[in-house]
Amino acid sequence: MYLTKEEERMYDGELGETLQKAMEILVAIGEIYEADKLIPIKNAHIAGVSYKTIGDAGLEWIKNLHGKVRVPSTLNPMGMDRERWKEMGISEEFHSKQMRVMRAYEDLGISSECTCTPYYVTEVKRGDTLAWSESSAVSFVNSVIGARTNREGAPSALASALVGKTPRYGLHIEENRVPQVFIDVRTELSGSDYGALGCIVGEILGEKIPLFSFRSKPSEDELKYLCAAMGASGAVGMCHFVHEKTNAKKLPEKITIEKKDIESMYGENDPEIIAMGCPHCSERELEKIANLLRGKKVRKELWICVSRRIKERRGDLVRIIESSGAKVICDTCMVVSPATERFERMMVDSGKAVRYVKTMCDVEVALGKREDCVKIAME
Ligand code: F3S
Repeated sequence: MYLTKEEERMYDGELGETLQKAMEILVAIGEIYEADKLIPIKNAHIAGVSYKTIGDAGLEWIKNLHGKVRVPSTLNPMGMDRERWKEMGISEEFHSKQMRVMRAYEDLGISSECTCTPYYVTEVKRGDTLAWSESSAVSFVNSVIGARTNREGAPSALASALVGKTPRYGLHIEENRVPQVFIDVRTELSGSDYGALGCIVGEILGEKIPLFSFRSKPSEDELKYLCAAMGASGAVGMCHFVHEKTNAKKLPEKITIEKKDIESMYGENDPEIIAMGCPHCSERELEKIANLLRGKKVRKELWICVSRRIKERRGDLVRIIESSGAKVICDTCMVVSPATERFERMMVDSGKAVRYVKTMCDVEVALGKREDCVKIAME
């Protein structure tokens, strides 16, 4: 991979140990994927923030880095709401370790806004080059916004933030962004159905890029649920969608999805906790949830996960939701917080959450439609 003079100096350690470590990561990845050079990024989004997932080894690694990031950078959710951690049942010890992780990132100049929907809090537009390491956000910005990022790991996104560049390969190159598999969706979908669809196709596709044909146009929020689930059950970094089968004939593979496939993904489990907002809710979703809860009372634990920025911006909706007894939780989520593990059964409205709660939390989980989740919370 070609390196400029300045990049060579970083790689050789002339600009300090942290930049050297960062360059070693970027060069190693660049060589594996046969990148020709490093390209400048507009911003970086860094996963690997919850103490639950990174532990002491991760904390030590971040603490040993010095200097400042060269581009605006945001963080993925951590393991607790920084204001409501006691109410969530988080221990003093976890809180203290989690705050040390946060401070270590802040010392590097990274914004401690912890959300998996950085596209709601950072300006991102078509054609931007990014280095993001949250698979749901990667797929969303590539597919819906038209920006470009590979599925970075936490260390490579952090390395890119420090260097301000990323290796040029994969989804940064136009010819690697073309659809490979046609997905013929032969049923009307709405809301959580898109997450169910993402779970099904992600598993079949692996890293391949799909072209979806839908019966009707999905909303941006529905595409967010689709992208998140595909990135969780497979390694899909982006998708395309049409409302007619224009390019379908040219694609070598085809998958057909029927109503029964989607329905088979839903379950019932008499949940003790219902959690929504995976990925974190948009303002539109918060509004829909507020409308479902207006004037009602919930009898079960109900979490709505959202970025702190949106919670602060929409205090009106938060008041309606919390008057019902539900909690609007920030900085974290049902998967990366240890707080959900005191429950035995959870219901979620997101395909990605089903997938990850199953593998990362010791909690039984079922997928429900958003309206049913709210209804069950009130029973
Ligand atoms: Fe976000 Fe947690 Fe889901 S980080 S995408 S809410 S698993």
